[in-house]
Amino acid sequence: MIIMANGLPRCGLHPPNVAYQQTPGGYTDCIDDAHQALACAFVISATGRLSGTTGNARHRRIGPTPRQNFRFETNILVKEETSMYTLPDLAYDYSALAPHISPQIMELHHSKHHQAYVTGANTAQEKLAEARSTGNFAALPKLEKDLAFHLGGHLNHSLFWKNMSPDGGGEPTGELAEAIGENFIDFATFQKQFTEVAMTIQGSGWSVLAWDAVGARLSIYQLYDHQGNLPPAQIPLLLLDMWEHAFYLQYRNVKADFVTAWWNLVNWTDVSTRYEKAHKHSPGII
Ligand SMILES: [Fe+2]
Repeated sequence: MIIMANGLPRCGLHPPNVAYQQTPGGYTDCIDDAHQALACAFVISATGRLSGTTGNARHRRIGPTPRQNFRFETNILVKEETSMYTLPDLAYDYSALAPHISPQIMELHHSKHHQAYVTGANTAQEKLAEARSTGNFAALPKLEKDLAFHLGGHLNHSLFWKNMSPDGGGEPTGELAEAIGENFIDFATFQKQFTEVAMTIQGSGWSVLAWDAVGARLSIYQLYDHQGNLPPAQIPLLLLDMWEHAFYLQYRNVKADFVTAWWNLVNWTDVSTRYEKAHKHSPGII
């Protein structure tokens, strides 16, 4: 079933601009003016099938052709089922993180790159829904990889924006500071390891501080692309984007300067909140 620009499924019987509108009761009515008066009632089944009857209003209106009733059934993709990921707004302006990250990078990074991952994740989910509807799972391996990549990109960037603040920098306090001391000797050693992890990523990826729900401890990882090399049950707390699109326009190939500047933006309040939630709610995973 084709989804129109307004997000509604396109009618398979009527002209191209005619759509159905879903009602709270699960029925759809033809919303084309020429047909609106007719009792066009359709039902969407639990498996996503659209079926119903309609009269051909145009034939009845323009001539002696008797009204005809059509019985049809076709596949549809319900919008609510597929558009599940959205680009989050930032808590600050694109210029708010300057001079550490330029407004130009922020705008491109958020509005173009992050948006592409949101779109890609939704597209993968739509194609998976279509595969379920048609029973054609031939493209499943590619769709699984597409979903992992794009959903990883969406998640990582969503946290990355919140991990930063115009009022960031400094060192953590409280329980997070104690946990960093227990797991990494002290804050300076943690900072050095996290920086080294960021600087030595081969290709594109992230440096990640995560709560290891299996070992009940903090760990640092090199995350490749958006979804590789991170074991399951690692809850990300702090992420640094080391894809070239995150720094190249401002720092060119001098990645070290980007990382040094980025430490001035870290929102330790956000990281601490994530740590406390992860620490509190993850015991007993195995
Ligand atoms: Fe990025």
